[in-house]
Amino acid sequence: MDVVIRQTPKEVAQLAAAIMARYVSEGKNIGLATGSTPLLTYQELITKHREGLSFANTTAFLLDEYVGLPEDHEQSYHYTIYNEFTQYVDFADGAVHTPDGMNPRTEEAGREYEAAIEAAGGIDIQLLGVGTNGHVGFNEPGSSFESLTRLKTLHPQTRRDNARFFGSLEDVPIHVITQGLGTIRRAGHLLLLATGENKADAVARLVEGPVSAMMPASVLQLHRHATVIVDEAAASQLQETEFYRFVDANRPEWQAY
Ligand code: GLP
Repeated sequence: MDVVIRQTPKEVAQLAAAIMARYVSEGKNIGLATGSTPLLTYQELITKHREGLSFANTTAFLLDEYVGLPEDHEQSYHYTIYNEFTQYVDFADGAVHTPDGMNPRTEEAGREYEAAIEAAGGIDIQLLGVGTNGHVGFNEPGSSFESLTRLKTLHPQTRRDNARFFGSLEDVPIHVITQGLGTIRRAGHLLLLATGENKADAVARLVEGPVSAMMPASVLQLHRHATVIVDEAAASQLQETEFYRFVDANRPEWQAY
């Protein structure tokens, strides 16, 4: 796992966008994440689009969706990613996919999403955030590392964390459909971003703690190409920062970011 520490959230976003842009410019498939963390990265990508980067040959897959929110609900992830990112760039019609949270047959919705990813040739780079309890996508603690897209019940902590986007805690859906950890593991490159003090504990556990289903983000330790980019605040509980900074400062030119 490559751990990169940057001073500010903006510098995290600039590096993340530069990495994503390489994939986009080659027409590769990208995996998108919602939450507040990637927003600055999306803004950087929008700027790159205005400077000439085209998304016209890229297919995108979102990590997860709330069950029971129609696509046009302003808190559905389908709407959120459109509102915050995809409407400002030039994806082809139908190129941005979200799990179908309105299909009452959730197993079928999961299977269809897996089939769509496979039909597109897989996800080349998957952008990830991390929940304060270590979830990725909506894979809460206890999720199998082999799991595929399926229904999950949100942890009460996740519902409290996400209540800020809804009117009240009661309005936060209880169920979601999320790519599984097995789905995420199949992506060619995992790019996890975390910023702010409130992510410091999760970052330390995912990077340096034991691999455990109780810490879903630790699945990155099993991946052949995982990059974790954090700001100083999110890095504040890591033990091996001297080493991560040394690696970064002495990166061979062909590996340079
Ligand atoms: C949400 C999303 C995750 C996201 C995480 C952290 O619930 N399902 O994909 O990474 O929680 O969100 P934030 O970046 O707002 O802290």
